[in-house]
Amino acid sequence: MKRTIIITGGAGFIGSHVVRLFVNKHPEYKIINLDKLTYAGNLANLKDIEDKPNYKFVKMDICDFEAVYQLMQDEQVDGIIHLAAESHVDRSIKDPFTFAKTNVMGTLSLLQAAKLYWESQPVPYQVAHSSQSTVQCLFYHISTDEVYGALAMNHPEGIPAPHQTIASAHSSQLETHGSLAYGSEFFYETTKYNPHSPYSASKASSDHFVRAYHDTYGMPTIVTNCSNNYGPYQFPEKLIPLFINNIRHRKPLPVYGKGENVRDWLYVEDHARAIDLIFHKGKIAETYNIGGFNEWKNIDLIKVVIKTVDIALGRVALNDEQRALSSSQLTAHSSMPDSAFPDLDLITYVTDRLGHDARYAIDSTKLQKELGWEPSLQFEEGIEKTVRWYLDNQDWMDNVTSGDYQKYYEEMYKPTQS
Ligand code: NAD
Ligand code: TYD
Repeated sequence: MKRTIIITGGAGFIGSHVVRLFVNKHPEYKIINLDKLTYAGNLANLKDIEDKPNYKFVKMDICDFEAVYQLMQDEQVDGIIHLAAESHVDRSIKDPFTFAKTNVMGTLSLLQAAKLYWESQPVPYQVAHSSQSTVQCLFYHISTDEVYGALAMNHPEGIPAPHQTIASAHSSQLETHGSLAYGSEFFYETTKYNPHSPYSASKASSDHFVRAYHDTYGMPTIVTNCSNNYGPYQFPEKLIPLFINNIRHRKPLPVYGKGENVRDWLYVEDHARAIDLIFHKGKIAETYNIGGFNEWKNIDLIKVVIKTVDIALGRVALNDEQRALSSSQLTAHSSMPDSAFPDLDLITYVTDRLGHDARYAIDSTKLQKELGWEPSLQFEEGIEKTVRWYLDNQDWMDNVTSGDYQKYYEEMYKPTQS
């Protein structure tokens, strides 16, 4: 079937994986990557698909309502997958206005442009690409688990997660961390919104606008709320790529507070697969949570990252028996004492983030039961893949960490006066 889809924020981290998946998997679709190219947008993320005939890049600000409306008419767009956003919590604490502008007003501008164009069709909310092919329109909004607020950490020692995925079962076979939960509560699709940071407040507001366009105007919409993503092409202001880069350069690793906060991590390609599935099979007006029952305390995760980088860079001495094991087995097993890993010394505890949410943990059983989605990757393997990608793509990292990045880094991590 012919379709024309705008993916906003396609030059960013998750967006680039979604664009790549759609361009490769759906050659009959026209995929328009609409991105303003802020500091976080990088067309180098899409080098491998930029010449494909079904791909087009348009440099545009989602807040520019007139331009978006014109583009929708010119291209006869029938679907929007909306990822463009300001996405970093620390930046939102310093500059909340930019977050309200892009995440709230930008989303509203897209919604209104879509409404006007889709309601102008002979059958509202259906776009006819030819007499044979009429497509039901869809506005698919990508959101975050952070809108739900923070969960209590009432089991700091960790208890078995209530649900096993193929990936977590594989974890148990590998005798790795497995799937532990650090509390008895989870975020469900029905959990009341309770955002704490300016970032999550702006995302929550945009989610409400999307649902309001469904309830008020009948626009076909879907919202998904996903947990923390990791993988290739993530801007190194976020924990995992920042720390991989610092370990490579033997720079201090700034751990906020005591490193006890818990995040639920999902490999980015698993998120992109979920988006593809939900875009095609999801029910209109529904919300789906996306996550992998993969909770980690920051400090435990950071140790896995350090050990994986140390092994990859040959900074640890391995005996024959250890050399026969994979990196994920080595990092997960206690066969190697911490003292074998020199870069654990880089861990530096710094002042905590303001309003730092204690624990995020997604329950994604609805998505698993209704649409059959499962995360595919066990965490230590995902981290091994991710570390290898950043070390193999040092030019990409050096490129994005030149220029303004240095200024951001110095400002963000300057020592506090005592
Ligand atoms: P990112 O910061 O890596 O990329 C954001 C992209 O949006 C960039 O390409 C940027 O240029 C573009 N953009 C920003 N402002 C724009 C504007 N005004 N007009 C057009 N383009 C603009 O973000 P990400 O981590 O890939 O996140 C993508 C989406 O997924 C966001 O909506 C985020 O809230 C959501 N999300 C992210 C995570 C995560 O762990 N990263 C988890 C759940 C949900
Ligand atoms: P981040 O990658 O910014 O994602 P989010 O805040 O959206 O969850 O941070 C992940 C966790 O790592 C979070 O608990 C904050 C912590 N963190 C640090 O300890 N040090 C850092 O330098 C950064 C960027 C994050």
